[in-house]
Amino acid sequence: MVSESLGHLFLVSFPGQGHVNPLLRLGKILASKGFLVTFSTTETTGEQMRQASDIIDKLTPFGDGFIRFEFFADGWEEDEDRHQDLDQYLLQLELVGKQVIPQMIKKNAEQGRPVSCLINNPFIPWVTDVATSLGLPSAMLWVQSCACFASYYHYYHGTVPFPDEEHPEIDVQLPWMPLLKYDEVPSYLYPTTPYPFLRRAILGQYKNLDKPFCILMETFEELEPELIKHMSEIFPIRAVGPLFRNTKAPKTTVHGDFLKADDCIEWLDTKPPSSVVYVSFGSVVQLKQDQWNEIAYGFLNSGVSFLLVMKPAHKDAGHDLLVLPDGFLEKAGDRGKVVQWSPQEKVLGHPSVACFVTHCGWNSTMEALTSGMPVVAFPQWGDQVTNAKYLVDILKVGVRMCRGEAENKLITRDEIEKCLLEATVGPKAVEMKQNAMKWKEAAAAAVAEGGSSDWNIRYFTDDIVKANE
Ligand code: UDX
Repeated sequence: MVSESLGHLFLVSFPGQGHVNPLLRLGKILASKGFLVTFSTTETTGEQMRQASDIIDKLTPFGDGFIRFEFFADGWEEDEDRHQDLDQYLLQLELVGKQVIPQMIKKNAEQGRPVSCLINNPFIPWVTDVATSLGLPSAMLWVQSCACFASYYHYYHGTVPFPDEEHPEIDVQLPWMPLLKYDEVPSYLYPTTPYPFLRRAILGQYKNLDKPFCILMETFEELEPELIKHMSEIFPIRAVGPLFRNTKAPKTTVHGDFLKADDCIEWLDTKPPSSVVYVSFGSVVQLKQDQWNEIAYGFLNSGVSFLLVMKPAHKDAGHDLLVLPDGFLEKAGDRGKVVQWSPQEKVLGHPSVACFVTHCGWNSTMEALTSGMPVVAFPQWGDQVTNAKYLVDILKVGVRMCRGEAENKLITRDEIEKCLLEATVGPKAVEMKQNAMKWKEAAAAAVAEGGSSDWNIRYFTDDIVKANE
């Protein structure tokens, strides 16, 4: 049966939750169209995915096609943090990947599964070089907004002045984008960013962007219309999002979570419609203890019900286990639930959930928009500050907990309570919900048969089939 597939697509992902999720979602859509899809990332990440999903090691029929997984050792010590020295880790990953990926592709061909196209996501631009050396077409999935793609592009090429040490507070006007205040630019581009290695990792992608035959984007044309059109004149872009909840992909338990989700759906089922605020800061952000205390009291004082995701502290975060204030859970009673990891896709689609307090990672942003969910924007760094700008000022589905990066600020319980009430009761809350529902409809239309993203997927798959004829 596998040999009857439209072709074999080999997906290589950087080992981060925010990278794996969109690439695997793309993989599921492509498999459902009739391709054999192999999803590959590092063994350490594969092991985490195995713990959270029991079908990772099986060839899984998926719509008209199949999905399977292959992992490779990255040569990094098991207990060493891969993000601590990202420059070094990316070099190591490139060194290892350039050796093992060609071997994996050769082995697949020997086993009757010749690869038709390689697809990678950011931070690992060398996958394109591997494809070129093997004479294979390659594509790249950009996992953030087109606005961030354009911001990094213009910064990389120096086409527009960005804040620098001499002018740290200048506004930035990029073509076909709203004016960004200095603190709305992706914060890795701030002259004072404590994360220059992340700036290097992201900009490193641009040195190879002339090679993929297609740059797929986890956005949709109706969301960033003029900008996508403009950037498509420079790059072969196809907007294929939201990859989340795409109607073509069959419902399945194949997922890329690194942690097993705690059950909270039954608890949500007991709550009245639109009564619960969902709080999650994605997979990377680690808030400090004093910020958690303020969040806890902000919720208690506001009186709203909540579902709070509090991830286990990262082993290299430099602090002890994070805790909620003494007596917090007793005081909240059945009004609140705390989990370590949630099934976020399901939570955002649950009728009891009224609004989403989010760090505005791009996956969470797209998931909120696709679910018609108003947000309280609590961006910490990177693209999150730009995403917050769009959610609040352009798409008008959110309120801001703070301007710019929240990472080194302390947002007080009073500010938190004020935002929670603004987002859940009164005319602003009603207006945000109405706008959010419009975006939900637009997202559904984009992925429905004949929608913009549906067409872009079709053009993309047609190109692959033609390239292999
Ligand atoms: C990272 C960066 O931080 C972010 O800025 C960038 O846009 C993408 O890469 P991350 O911080 O993990 O991502 O945030 P996000 O992009 O929102 O991705 C998190 C993913 O984990 C989402 O798909 C979300 O559904 C999932 N998730 C999160 C869960 O399934 N359960 C949870 O409890 C929390």
